[in-house]
Amino acid sequence: MIERGTIFCDNNMAEVKIIGFGEGIPKRCVSNDALTTLVDTNDEWIRSRTGIQQRYIATDETLTDLCTQAAQNALEQAGITAEQLDLVIVATLTPDLALPNASCMLQKSIGAVNAACFDLSAACSGFMYALNTARMYIKGGAAKYALVVGGEILSKIIDWTDRSTCVLFGDGAGAAVVAKSDEPGILDIVLGTDGAKGEALMLEERPSDNPFRRQYIEENGAIETNLPSAGSFVSMNGQEVFKFAVKRVPECIFKILENTGYSVEDIDYYVLHQANLRILSCVAKKIGVSYDKFYVNLDKYGNTSAASVPIALVEMSKKGMLKKGMKVIMVGFGGGLTWGGGLVII
Ligand code: UT7
Repeated sequence: MIERGTIFCDNNMAEVKIIGFGEGIPKRCVSNDALTTLVDTNDEWIRSRTGIQQRYIATDETLTDLCTQAAQNALEQAGITAEQLDLVIVATLTPDLALPNASCMLQKSIGAVNAACFDLSAACSGFMYALNTARMYIKGGAAKYALVVGGEILSKIIDWTDRSTCVLFGDGAGAAVVAKSDEPGILDIVLGTDGAKGEALMLEERPSDNPFRRQYIEENGAIETNLPSAGSFVSMNGQEVFKFAVKRVPECIFKILENTGYSVEDIDYYVLHQANLRILSCVAKKIGVSYDKFYVNLDKYGNTSAASVPIALVEMSKKGMLKKGMKVIMVGFGGGLTWGGGLVII
């Protein structure tokens, strides 16, 4: 069934389960105080407006390094080898190269020689979009094991002189191994997009330049386009994105609950994209559930975009918080503007 702006998935085919998680985090930890030497900011502003206390920033690590670490950890937990993977999807805005893409470089690095590999671009919702894509491959019988990775080196697309963005983001990767299963796993995924609000979060692509375009400009003058100019770094209208998040995320959660027949209280944990503490508490209030059910680690990692949800799941798993049979709702949201949420049984 397809409705405008939102994709609902048919749940009548094979069960699909997440059987392993892993993370790859850069070594270098950067405190809020360290940023005060770069821009006019302070620890109190960053903590009170966002909840962030520190983030990890890649120095000698590439995206492939972080994704490799995450993938190897996830494969180990899943108990399968890289050769068993049929599919590798990397959700990222920041591949090391445009060609080969991040998934092909990851395939080479981990030796997933039997996998079809591609990248997916859906910003901070990328992990959920990739998870749903893998789920559909498996449900449809086109894959048995898939590796889904959300990974970013956002530090290379951030303007380190812009205090309104540089304090927010961090680098990292999170991975999940997804497999065909006899027991319930991923019960439902709801995806949505509001492209009309895309200008709220932008990053300019390489400008178009070719001899024919130049000739056209010489003959006709500058080309008028309706593309807004964002500059070569991430630019964000924080308040617009904030308003979008606190509207769309609760809607997404309610849609998942409606589709699956559960109530807000039935859910053991809510694992949301780690962008801002105030967004998390606002969503908790709007859906009427205790904030204790919301996992928070943005204090430690900042906003790692597509990596934030799987990194949070890895931490929860390491802390022994995820017990078999528990119900977890995950939601990603951000650039596009996009959102994507899902309900999984652990
Ligand atoms: O991952 C994608 C999803 N992203 C998000 O969900 C982000 C959503 N938005 C937000 O989290 C918040 O809007 C921000 C954290 C980005 C900003 O918080 P805010 O409460 O909306 O602050 P603001 O942008 O309205 O700025 C308030 C003031 C401004 O000063 P004036 O104009 O009031 O004098 C800013 O210039 O804070 C100033 N400011 C800072 N001050 C110290 C902005 N950045 C900083 C800073 N340090 N780093």
